[in-house]
Amino acid sequence: MRRARTGGDDRKILRQDGNLFQRSGEGHEKIGTIKFNANLKQKTQVGIIGAGPAGLTLALLLHRATIDCVILEYRSREYVESRVRAGLLEQNTVDLLHELGVANRLNKEGLRHRGVYLSFDEQRIRIPFDELTGGRCITIYGQQEVLKDQVQACIEKGIEILFEAEVTEINGVATNSSSLVYRQNDEQHVLSCDFVAGCDGFHGIARTSLPNNIYNEFRKDYPFSWLGILAHAKPSSDELVYAYHQRGFALHSLRSETVSRLYIQVDNDDRLENWSDDKIWNELSLRLQTEGFHLNTGAIFEKAITPMRSFMIDNLQYGRLFLAGDAAHIVPPTGGKGLNLAVADIKWLAGALIHFYKHNKEDQLQGYTANALRRVWRAQDFSNFMTYLFHKQAAHGSFEYNLQKSKFDYIRLSKAYATTIAENYVGLKDI
Ligand code: FAD
Ligand code: PHB
Repeated sequence: MRRARTGGDDRKILRQDGNLFQRSGEGHEKIGTIKFNANLKQKTQVGIIGAGPAGLTLALLLHRATIDCVILEYRSREYVESRVRAGLLEQNTVDLLHELGVANRLNKEGLRHRGVYLSFDEQRIRIPFDELTGGRCITIYGQQEVLKDQVQACIEKGIEILFEAEVTEINGVATNSSSLVYRQNDEQHVLSCDFVAGCDGFHGIARTSLPNNIYNEFRKDYPFSWLGILAHAKPSSDELVYAYHQRGFALHSLRSETVSRLYIQVDNDDRLENWSDDKIWNELSLRLQTEGFHLNTGAIFEKAITPMRSFMIDNLQYGRLFLAGDAAHIVPPTGGKGLNLAVADIKWLAGALIHFYKHNKEDQLQGYTANALRRVWRAQDFSNFMTYLFHKQAAHGSFEYNLQKSKFDYIRLSKAYATTIAENYVGLKDI
């Protein structure tokens, strides 16, 4: 009989015949049946929930160290590989993708940027990362391209990814016999594992499976959102442009020589229906305006509004369950940190799991939260700083506006201040 205890209060017992019982008073009440499908793996060392950047990177690192794992992903492969999200890769992330042998396309198609433009009231300055950080840079390469490369590599290496498999229960993580119950093709299955990696994003099940008295939660909802577009338009700038304008924030980014990625600040209750393509281009052109700048336009093929939020919990582990990436923290996208933080968590988690299997020692697993949170807090601060610097929060000319303007003037004057921004933007090496 497998004994299963969820991260919460309920005690569940899963019998070999697949019947699931819950303790009720003195006895046990049957609450369901779970299928054991002989064609599917029933046991692994690390059960990974989610095939986002966190889950896929973890699988590749564990596989390299000959640790067995299975990824359970709620969505289809097509959905995962086409979901448009981040695009900015820090040097650390690029280095790891190289190390894992999944950077062939990234090398060919990724755009290496040695600096970034910052604009305020139509005045533009450039921060040269390479000069200020000893040659470190960022690379622009869409998150969905990273995921395509990683999924392909997993399949080639024989790492099992079950798509359209939703984890519905995490059991037994407080004991040494953890299991994941998941639903695929309208059938329930169970996967036993030594460890569970909750790489299931902000809306996943892993965080809600932690007992709620073991962590503090921090949350900040900003009073604005981003309307983001992808367009078949030649980029209007060779490097990214972050702009404060009295009409609101705008960001010029890109994906290739023919595709631009652009964002504007909108109200939280704004809707896509309010934004025709012409209106978006017009607004971008006004907000990104500086002397000599011309905005290239083209057919828009993706449009979405994303709310801006800072969120985190300060404990990423409970027994044999470990959280990584958006499951544990969200940053506003102004610093381009979300994906990079997910990968940084995984470096610590993979290292600790490999150490455990090699030396049978839990010390690195015990230190996982503290190690990962140092970088998370740094990224929270930097993302919050960039958000406040470039978004319109109060009337033009107000106290807040003057603080923002003063910061911008200081970046222009001080190499030390510009260096602080550069090293946070490309990603600190030793944190
Ligand atoms: P995710 O990428 O969210 O992956 C989690 C996976 O788990 C998902 O595929 C999900 O389907 C799966 N899952 C969830 N629940 C279950 C379950 N019960 N069972 C099985 N699978 C499950 N960052 C930036 O830096 N710049 C940006 O411009 C930017 N834009 C973004 C736009 C949006 C709409 C969102 C949501 C995020 C954006 N981010 C951006 C953040 C960045 O994309 C994330 O930080 C990054 O995806 C985190 O990776 P992850 O692997 O932790 O989580
Ligand atoms: C992007 O290219 O999508 C991008 C770049 C920088 C950010 C956010 C998003 O800060």
